[in-house]
Amino acid sequence: MSRRLEGQTAWISGAASGIGEATARLFAEEGARVGLADVHAERGGEVERAIRGSGGEALFVPCDVASEESVRAAIEGTVRRFGGLQIVVNCAGVVHGRLLHEYDAEEWDRLMAVNVRSIFFSMKHALAYLRSNERSYMVNIGSISSFVGQAGTPAYTASKFAVLGLSRSIALDYAAIGLRCNCVCPGITDTPMLRHHLHATADPAATLTTRLHRVPMGRALTPDDIARSVLYLSCEDSAGVTGTSLTVDGGYLAAAEWETSKVTLPSDLP
Ligand SMILES: NC(=O)c1ccc[n+]([C@@H]2O[C@H](COP(=O)([O-])OP(=O)(O)OC[C@H]3O[C@@H](n4cnc5c(N)ncnc54)[C@H](O)[C@@H]3O)[C@@H](O)[C@H]2O)c1
Repeated sequence: MSRRLEGQTAWISGAASGIGEATARLFAEEGARVGLADVHAERGGEVERAIRGSGGEALFVPCDVASEESVRAAIEGTVRRFGGLQIVVNCAGVVHGRLLHEYDAEEWDRLMAVNVRSIFFSMKHALAYLRSNERSYMVNIGSISSFVGQAGTPAYTASKFAVLGLSRSIALDYAAIGLRCNCVCPGITDTPMLRHHLHATADPAATLTTRLHRVPMGRALTPDDIARSVLYLSCEDSAGVTGTSLTVDGGYLAAAEWETSKVTLPSDLP
């Protein structure tokens, strides 16, 4: 194992599940000390114990990213334990399957607070620590919904466009302190969020099969597929990269075809 994050401390929101959990585990394997921030305390504690059980350093800090005070306390708690902060990964997110007219203002505001405003809070309260390093990193988790509308998820789509815009803005404004900020945009990824979303449809298996027809690679991404790209943007392997988006979608956005499985090569291929 390369230990690319030896000596680094990372604060990761949404670290109790899915992509955030996979990122925390991978970062710990690579030598980072990880602060795990999540509302799901039981699951967060389990991830902390699993990382420690494999010889890594982790601290679960209960956190509702919609609350400024909660984000501040979770970042402070991480720094108090590990003595510094070099990497912030904003991964916590929620999705609602709902048409725009079905929202009420509180639900809209809550989704935006979790998916977007949380990044503002983490930047504000991590800044003093990040700027004390020669180099620091922020990775925000966008989505293919940072580029295209997906049916029945208007607030989520708006929030993920905002995550990409905010990432570019942070990259521009804070480059002078050595911070690189990028956005990882996953496609269909097999996590509890995806399963929950699919189970709201009449036939979850059929919905997934139909959606995967759109994916040239023909499979859902794994949380680890996404974590590897977050790692790349959180170390000097990506030196020189800032203000960009890295789409990890199995080719979804590259395809104009609805049924990519019907795109075949000639049988006499050399
Ligand atoms: N799964 C996909 O197909 C997919 C695709 C594109 C983007 N994403 C994005 O990836 C990120 C991670 O999603 P996932 O698929 O791993 O989902 P997940 O539901 O498995 O994990 C999300 C985590 O965020 C936490 N969380 C939710 N609200 C929170 C809050 N207010 N404060 C703190 N933590 C909170 C949850 O407890 C959970 O642990 C999200 O931003 C999501 O929008 C997921």
